[in-house]
Amino acid sequence: MQEEFIRLSKPLIGLEEKEAVLSVLSNERLGMGNEVKKFENELNSFFGRTTICCINGTAALHLALQAMGIGDQDEVLVQSLTYVASFQAISACGAIPIACDIELESLTIDLKDAKRKLSPKTKAIMPVHFGGDPGRLDEIYSFAQENGLRVIEDAAHAFGSEYKNRKVGSFGDVSCFSFDGIKNITCGEGGCIVTNNREIMSLAREARLLGVENETKHRFSDKRNWQFDVKSQGWRYHMSDIMASIGRKQLEKLKYFAEKRKELAKHYDELFLNSKSINIFKRNYQSIVPHIYSIILPEGTDRSSMRKKLYQDSIETGIHYMPNHQLTLYRGLQIQELKNTDQIYPRLLSIPLHPDLNRKQVEFIANKIHEIIE
Ligand SMILES: Cc1ncc(COP(=O)(O)O)c(C=O)c1O
Repeated sequence: MQEEFIRLSKPLIGLEEKEAVLSVLSNERLGMGNEVKKFENELNSFFGRTTICCINGTAALHLALQAMGIGDQDEVLVQSLTYVASFQAISACGAIPIACDIELESLTIDLKDAKRKLSPKTKAIMPVHFGGDPGRLDEIYSFAQENGLRVIEDAAHAFGSEYKNRKVGSFGDVSCFSFDGIKNITCGEGGCIVTNNREIMSLAREARLLGVENETKHRFSDKRNWQFDVKSQGWRYHMSDIMASIGRKQLEKLKYFAEKRKELAKHYDELFLNSKSINIFKRNYQSIVPHIYSIILPEGTDRSSMRKKLYQDSIETGIHYMPNHQLTLYRGLQIQELKNTDQIYPRLLSIPLHPDLNRKQVEFIANKIHEIIE
């Protein structure tokens, strides 16, 4: 048994984050205030667009969809192979997630399948930037434009990634990010919406604080709005100053985190490149900040027993993701099979990737995988 347990994913938290949290605690103003305001300003500069911080990435998607006017029985095209958060955000609006297939090379949405599923009820497409890869965004935007669809990018995995030399989130319709405990940067939990659409901004900002008018402005001046009107359905989805204080320090470290993730993923690539048993995804790490590293196991591999053996060797693994069209809640919505998703899902295995991992551990993991397979 190796001494140190290797986690699948984890944040890297330093003294800076701890001191930042302590400082908020010492201030005894813990809710949404100055720290969130500063974090939003820093993110505005990062993206060159307006950012609205919220409690998590799922809330960001939900708020953005609602602000786009997606509602009862509207259809949203989305890949089945994504975290259930993408689907739940759509169904939370009363809309219907239409499960689409993926491209086997990238695990991003298969536009050919999405086109087949277009109907008069389709209002939006939600590309998921799987593992940080934005896929064929230009083609997705052209398709959306031709058919009058909104585009909501589920960029939960893609903080720091670029597409054609532009940061994900710095262009397009609306992009949503997650800052949960294991993402490229973390706030503990957290998320944000990025857009340049003024109407969406203002609706999402209002809805994140129960629809209370101008509440953000008051909170950012350490005040409350005691006499107010509410004109639309809102949620309690705002971010706290404690969370923002962590996020601000993490944002300063993004460059290091991104480089580390890229270096480790490239090292895995080298170690698996000539493997007879393991297949990998060819990602361009010049532009992609890898959020997860998935390998493709040989057909027929007993994935559960493989995971158990790796665990005995102190290696944690994961499965990204349980396809949504196989979940009880969404099963009834999908009549056709999703060929690529159904074919690749049983063979996917995510192996450790985070900025606290080192090259030796990566080699140890790759060796163990080969040993077990052989
Ligand atoms: C693809 C995807 N979308 C959305 C989310 C939701 O983000 P959060 O966990 O911050 O709510 C996640 C989180 O893991 C995700 O992986």
